[in-house]
Amino acid sequence: MNQAADCGHPPPDAAALAPAAEETRALLESGTLLVLGQIRQASNAVLFGEVEHEGRRVPCVYKPVAGERPLWDFPDGTLAQREVAAYEISRATGWDLIPATVLREGPYGEGMCQAWVGPLPDSEPAGAAAEDGGDADDAGDAEAGAGTVDAAGTGRPDASGPAGETSGPDGGHGGEELLAIVDGEEPGEGWKPVGYVETGSARPALLVHADDDRLRRLAVIDAVINNGDRKGGHLLTLPTGALYAIDHGVSFHVDDKLRTLLWGWAGEELTSEATAALRALATAVAESAPLAGRLSELITAAEVEALRKRIDGLISSGRHPLPGGDWPAIPWPPV
Ligand SMILES: Nc1ncnc2c1ncn2[C@@H]1O[C@H](COP(=O)(O)OP(=O)(O)O)[C@@H](O)[C@H]1O
Ligand SMILES: [Mg+2]
Repeated sequence: MNQAADCGHPPPDAAALAPAAEETRALLESGTLLVLGQIRQASNAVLFGEVEHEGRRVPCVYKPVAGERPLWDFPDGTLAQREVAAYEISRATGWDLIPATVLREGPYGEGMCQAWVGPLPDSEPAGAAAEDGGDADDAGDAEAGAGTVDAAGTGRPDASGPAGETSGPDGGHGGEELLAIVDGEEPGEGWKPVGYVETGSARPALLVHADDDRLRRLAVIDAVINNGDRKGGHLLTLPTGALYAIDHGVSFHVDDKLRTLLWGWAGEELTSEATAALRALATAVAESAPLAGRLSELITAAEVEALRKRIDGLISSGRHPLPGGDWPAIPWPPV
């Protein structure tokens, strides 16, 4: 059942506004936020709905700060701000890989509000987390909720894919294969190796991702924001060929937390396009530049400083980072 239709509201015209468009961002900021349902398979309280302003509407996800599950390594109640900061970085690169994301008031208090990518899900109505303001326990319940919506469609294997594929955890819901697990040591043409993973079979299998320019740009953004959780289910594709990345709450830590599936270019030279984007970013986050001011409203001064260091480090090495430290570098499961 489609909540958008059931609530008597015509489905939002998602085609009219691209998720990362400036107009989308402005609408998310100033429109009226209406919650239509809840995504159950999430670590935090994740609601979906739409924002409306003067007849223009945009589908959105709304994660109230009150529904954030506390984490041991990030200060409480800061994930929404990190998501907005990640969007601001993507926006500054001009790559627009993260849907427009703003911090705003909503029916359950302040939260992040982000443009929805793809069709709105069929779902149960907003549940417990929504009814009482979405506290941390409810966020846990949401994750445990069985058989409910996961709009990203954590895709299962399909026939096409790299040579020797045994299974293909797909990212996104545009039908595009971005990730796969192959039997053997060769990633296959058009694929990049991530690392060996235990699948319960006799020998470890090789996790691979597509050798894709959009993913390569995203790998640079993840290195910049120090993303601690880049999974396949966070890569959403549209039939238009656009790719958007979501879920950046555990980013911008001062310590190296880069945990990602996108290790395929580790140690390789950055593209000239990436180097140019990093140089522009370095200027954009320099002290007293507008983006630096914006970021300092969202993350701590130490985190802004650490961000500058990561950008400078990437420019001076000229290479994609290698996994480092004892932090587990690959999220598991990968979707
Ligand atoms: N902008 C978005 N567009 C489409 N689906 C989204 C969007 N944001 C979240 N979702 C859906 O909600 C699910 C949970 O969101 P996620 O950001 O992973 O939440 P959490 O903060 O709990 O980790 C995602 O797996 C995806 O299905
Ligand atoms: Mg998540």
